[in-house]
Amino acid sequence: MKLGVVILAAGQGTRMKSSLPKVLHLLAGRPLLAHVLETALSLQPEKTVVVYGHGGELVRKTINQSDLLWVEQSEQLGTGHAVQQAMPMLQGMDKVLVLYGDVPLIRKESLQTFLANTASGVGLMTVTLEDPGGYGRIQRDPSGKVECIVEQKDASEKQLAIPEINTGIMLVDANRLQQWLEALSPKNAQGEYYLTDIIGMAVRDGVDVHVTQPADAIEAEGINDRLQLASLERVLQRWQGEALMRDGVTLMDPARFDLRGTLIAGTDVSLDVNVIIEGRVELGNGVSIGANTVLRNVQVADNVCIRENCVVEDAVIGSDCAIGPFSRIRPGTKLTGGAHVGNFVEIKNSTIGQGSKVNHLSYIGDTKMGSGVNIGAGTITCNYDGAYKHQTTIEDKAFIGSNAALVAPVVIGEDATIGAGSVIARDSAAGALTVARGKQVTIKGWKRPTKEK
Ligand code: UD1
Ligand code: MG
Repeated sequence: MKLGVVILAAGQGTRMKSSLPKVLHLLAGRPLLAHVLETALSLQPEKTVVVYGHGGELVRKTINQSDLLWVEQSEQLGTGHAVQQAMPMLQGMDKVLVLYGDVPLIRKESLQTFLANTASGVGLMTVTLEDPGGYGRIQRDPSGKVECIVEQKDASEKQLAIPEINTGIMLVDANRLQQWLEALSPKNAQGEYYLTDIIGMAVRDGVDVHVTQPADAIEAEGINDRLQLASLERVLQRWQGEALMRDGVTLMDPARFDLRGTLIAGTDVSLDVNVIIEGRVELGNGVSIGANTVLRNVQVADNVCIRENCVVEDAVIGSDCAIGPFSRIRPGTKLTGGAHVGNFVEIKNSTIGQGSKVNHLSYIGDTKMGSGVNIGAGTITCNYDGAYKHQTTIEDKAFIGSNAALVAPVVIGEDATIGAGSVIARDSAAGALTVARGKQVTIKGWKRPTKEK
């Protein structure tokens, strides 16, 4: 069976009140449309066509996927019209599955069941809602057979009371679909070509309509405004959190956890509240992450403890490291095993060697640091001369006294000691003490000025 998928994404999304096309708004860090596409492509269709409208170039550029076909619907004349635009690209398909770009939570499993249930005839996905307001209603005859779909704006009082609604997801034989689309007319309350009218046509032509309901009604929920976006965000976050917990990850509170990307976690990983994971994050065994910490594209080895209120981005953290609280680890940083980075420390584009410690109030930038180094509180690498960035090298076992300024480019030799408060602008010899600060002077009998009465 050759399956073609059409994703309708041409709607303006006026209620988002945004310059961004609706399907590009983010859910769990990815555009709405990307969620639908991932699910659609998991069904391994022969062809996938996205019908786009306003802001289309931006949509194509953002999604930037080669295995898709794009078709513009320059005027939004209705869902039937939208599918019609895609039909020329679906030549040779046996069946066409219609999905919506603004219904992001539909699950692969539900669609697989839907496809399996619709071996013949037309497949229609419905849900039954306590409040069906706004949706197309499923009208059935007294024997329970589907007769047609009636849109909210065209429905009678009696039809409005029907709780079963059209999710919009349909599976239709491609040739039949072509015929039925050609027969659509915009003679209805909205003056649109309704895709939903093909259900009545199928029934008239003696084609069976098979109804499937998704495992969870929430899967069929569409996003029209930012309130719905926020509510589906929480649903998706809960699902992701539940999946992680089932895989053995401890979330202190799944309601206060956000995953905007991919998290790969080993055993006995624990995340405290308000942790945000973005991009691709890998956590080894026995890793614990403190409250309010943000990890963005980070690789963390075993038994690392990242404490509260840290921001770690584009970095690689070796095993047994300790970070935070209040550390900022910026792109290009590599902490080797057992390194410690503490309070109010910023590290950028630097390698910190095995077991080295940068525990308090420091800035380390563009630095190559060996192992067993101790960096005193308040030490700064002065890596920027106003025009260029320069490299600092700190060799194994060096000891840097508090409040040192290391003016790059500079090399601190192995086992060197730097006196507290030094401004080091030249290379410092290995194994020696280098002090570069004003000598301490004592003036005996010094009288402080006094105020005249
Ligand atoms: C549609 C269905 C309704 C169903 C509801 C489910 C029709 C006529 N009605 O109504 O039965 O209960 O969805 O959410 O199909 N779109 C285009 N081009 C257009 C019009 C729409 O691409 O010309 C896209 C939209 O971007 C959206 C989807 O189609 O992704 C549905 O359009 P929308 O206007 O939201 O339809 P509803 O009135 O909600
Ligand atoms: Mg809608």
